[in-house]
Amino acid sequence: MEEAYKKNGVLVLEDFFSVGECKNLMDRMESIIEETDPASIDSIFSTIDRNQVSDQYLLQSADKISLFLEEEAVDEKGNLVVPLNKAVNKVGHALHDKDQVFSTFSRQGKLESLLSGLGMRAPVLMQSMYICKQPNIGGEVTCHQDAPFLWTTPQSVIGIWVALEDATLENGCLWGIPAVHTETLPRSRYWVKAGQTHFDVLDDRDWPEDKKVPLAVKAGSVVVLHGQFPHLSGANRSNRSRHAYAIHYVDACTEYAQENWLQRSAQDPATGFSLAKEL
Ligand code: FE2
Repeated sequence: MEEAYKKNGVLVLEDFFSVGECKNLMDRMESIIEETDPASIDSIFSTIDRNQVSDQYLLQSADKISLFLEEEAVDEKGNLVVPLNKAVNKVGHALHDKDQVFSTFSRQGKLESLLSGLGMRAPVLMQSMYICKQPNIGGEVTCHQDAPFLWTTPQSVIGIWVALEDATLENGCLWGIPAVHTETLPRSRYWVKAGQTHFDVLDDRDWPEDKKVPLAVKAGSVVVLHGQFPHLSGANRSNRSRHAYAIHYVDACTEYAQENWLQRSAQDPATGFSLAKEL
């Protein structure tokens, strides 16, 4: 398993979670969305035009449960054109710390064993996202690596992407380009200074998207993503949603960059598996 991960930068583990565990997270998310006042949301999420995301709303989501909306879910005046539960693109970025159900899920021993088997010495739960990929309007996510957003020295981020529903070619499953993650550095870097976000291209070669492979998986499967594994997903034009939950872990034995967008305070730090607190 470790060899395949090292070679390809990605690993698919079927039946890692039960359908019941997936449903439990989906039910909890339904409640979170139901309890949210749409007026509190200040963001449309798009990877095509990053300027559409309110920088401050994104930066403030580091230690919160914040909702981000699909581009096609609001009109030009910013009014919702579909019900809120059909408008959410994703929810992040501290579900793993701010909600008991997500905290418990994200700190299971079998995840810790998995990360340790892949060489992570001291996993820290840094970021979590619930991704809805809504029917008909779920937007495309362009090809990217995750390491540029959670920069450590040396690089250490590992993404655990959990399919809560079947992810298919029709509803916008992940795609990725195997075996090109082995370069020394990520090809870009996303960073923040004085509240301003920056995106630096460190290597402007195009990704060899002709080599991309689909990562269509059944509900309960886990896709493990090396931080430098290039991945993407298409728009969802089908009538079925594609819910997924992604957790990003970094190694406490590395140096976490002060310029990263996601910063936690000394009073509310990012923690590992054993420091889960009752909420
Ligand atoms: Fe990603």
